[in-house]
Amino acid sequence: MSARACFIRRPLQFNLGSSSCSCFVSCSLLVGSQLILETTTTSTTALPTDAPRTTTPTAPTTTAPSGIQYHTAYPRNYHFIMDNPEVCKDQTPFLVLMVPVSPNNIAARNAIRQTWGKEKQVQGQVVLTLFMLGSSGGAYVEQHEKLKQENEKHHDLIQSDFRDTYKNLTIKTMVIMDWLAKRCPAAAFAMKIDSDMFLNIDNLVIMLLKPGIPKLNYLTGMLMWNRPVVRSKNSKWYVPVEMYPEPKYPTYTLGMGYVFSNDLPEKFVEASKSIKPFNIEDAYIGMCMKKLGLKPSSPPNPSQFRAYNTKYDRCTYSKVITYILGSSQQLINFWMDLKRPEPPC
Ligand SMILES: *[C@@H]1O[C@H](CO)[C@@H](O)[C@H](O)[C@H]1NC(C)=O
Repeated sequence: MSARACFIRRPLQFNLGSSSCSCFVSCSLLVGSQLILETTTTSTTALPTDAPRTTTPTAPTTTAPSGIQYHTAYPRNYHFIMDNPEVCKDQTPFLVLMVPVSPNNIAARNAIRQTWGKEKQVQGQVVLTLFMLGSSGGAYVEQHEKLKQENEKHHDLIQSDFRDTYKNLTIKTMVIMDWLAKRCPAAAFAMKIDSDMFLNIDNLVIMLLKPGIPKLNYLTGMLMWNRPVVRSKNSKWYVPVEMYPEPKYPTYTLGMGYVFSNDLPEKFVEASKSIKPFNIEDAYIGMCMKKLGLKPSSPPNPSQFRAYNTKYDRCTYSKVITYILGSSQQLINFWMDLKRPEPPC
């Protein structure tokens, strides 16, 4: 991993301690140490985590006194204003890909529809790709009309009535969980995957079909251990002490793309009633896991979940599951190249 890693359009979603991403040496060091951790960890039970496996809440500061319910992240306080409730009725997907995206980012949606989102049968399994949108203020009526037309064409937009902002990403994630629990409970697995991702969907389904993959209480992706909460106010990942008092997050999976057994969404929704919301959606899911007495698992091959690439390499892209990309056009270009008939390696 080179220091160039942080110069990509989207800043790293890692928590960089007290530094921000302008300090790109830290970024690459962090990625480096993560990769070292990944390659030296072979068993999920060997994770250097903070909390013991337990079924009772262990963090008093984030546990609600009985009776108190946190409503901000609890997704059933929001309502679907656009929906495709029938998509899981006609067929039961093996895997549902849920992509949070802002309402106006049609370029990202179209790139995904031409690439990994167009694969409806993978390794003989039904895969479904859907986009989750919040609502924007401003030119609401005009935008809603456009989105309606887009949805009539593709039947893949879900929109909820919370405000679509960066600080509201935790709400978006929880609304994704609510949708999965309500509309698609029979699917075997789901993935929350960001709209700027390369996804090798074949490799993901091959991984999920491995006999050792748990069918319940399973969450995997790029694991983040002992990550400190960012307290510097100008950081994108700043979280005030009042929102999250502890200095570190529980083990979580990096938000770029995490995969879970589809029994978990309902459990996350329930757990969110008593977990104080904060704006780091992936760490919030880590808190839900902790509350449920569960831990994220290392993927069978941790090196398949990758964040940044420095350059496209067909052979490497044929082996990974995720990479963060720089643009929608890159996704289309890399995908077309990867799908050429010649062997990639
Ligand atoms: C998050 O969404 C809620 C519900 O729409 C809204 O009231 C709030 O202002 C939003 N917060 C931010 C920081 O955008």
